Amino acid sequence: MQRVRENGIDGVAGIAVCGVGSLICLAVGLGSHQLGWLWGALIYGVLGGCFLHTTLVGKGVIWDRLLPQLDLSAQTQALDVGCGHGLVMLKIAERLPLGGHVTGIDIWRQQDQTHNSLQATTDRIAAADLTAQASVVTADMRDLPFRNQQFNLVVSSLAVHNVKPKTGRLESLQEMNRVLQPGGRLVIVDLGFTCQEYHEALRRLGFTDIRVTGNGYNGWWSGPWMPTLTLTARKPTP
Ligand SMILES: C[S@@+](CC[C@H](N)C(=O)[O-])C[C@H]1O[C@@H](n2cnc3c(N)ncnc32)[C@H](O)[C@@H]1O
Repeated sequence: MQRVRENGIDGVAGIAVCGVGSLICLAVGLGSHQLGWLWGALIYGVLGGCFLHTTLVGKGVIWDRLLPQLDLSAQTQALDVGCGHGLVMLKIAERLPLGGHVTGIDIWRQQDQTHNSLQATTDRIAAADLTAQASVVTADMRDLPFRNQQFNLVVSSLAVHNVKPKTGRLESLQEMNRVLQPGGRLVIVDLGFTCQEYHEALRRLGFTDIRVTGNGYNGWWSGPWMPTLTLTARKPTP
């Protein structure tokens, strides 16, 4: 339970729907002895289980596979956009040699991740003894409080899709582009349906080497119909 509280749960409403659906079907099935309801309980349970796996384990596995490809070094100045409890920020900080730094920004929305707060994430950085490598700032991704080209790596994990409407998500991508140095890497892990939108926007912003890849069951939010994709791109040098 402590670990769940420290990491928070994403999209808790989705898990609640599956849990309540499963319990209702189970209760009706047991009361009426109709097999169909018990199948319903099982299906809701599997959907909820997939959701829980992705938020508690799967997205961590996705980033553990990604980060070794990013050449983290003492020169790395990274930004984690929508860092929440700091899953990705801390993974980067742990791998950074002295001199490298990662900054996380967030507006700490509870509906996007439970127990989300500046204090909780600051405490986690301190508990991991990573205050030299990582820090957090309260900021909206549509208006980043950083100077142009301040970072050489910008990452974002399951955060940009929360910005609505689409114009807000495009503003966020423009801000990521603004604070990224030419030649810098952008890595966005997010819900499948948004990645096509990001691909198109980044192409228009002139990014190169844009790649979108799947993550299998580790990224399923209830099932393969709602996958998590990884988008990597590079800002061109003039
Ligand atoms: C699903 S959580 C993911 C957190 C973390 N990146 C992770 O993978 O565990 C999405 C995060 O995006 C943040 N968020 C939503 N809208 C935002 C905005 N406009 N600016 C900054 N952060 C935002 C939420 O507060 C939340 O912490």
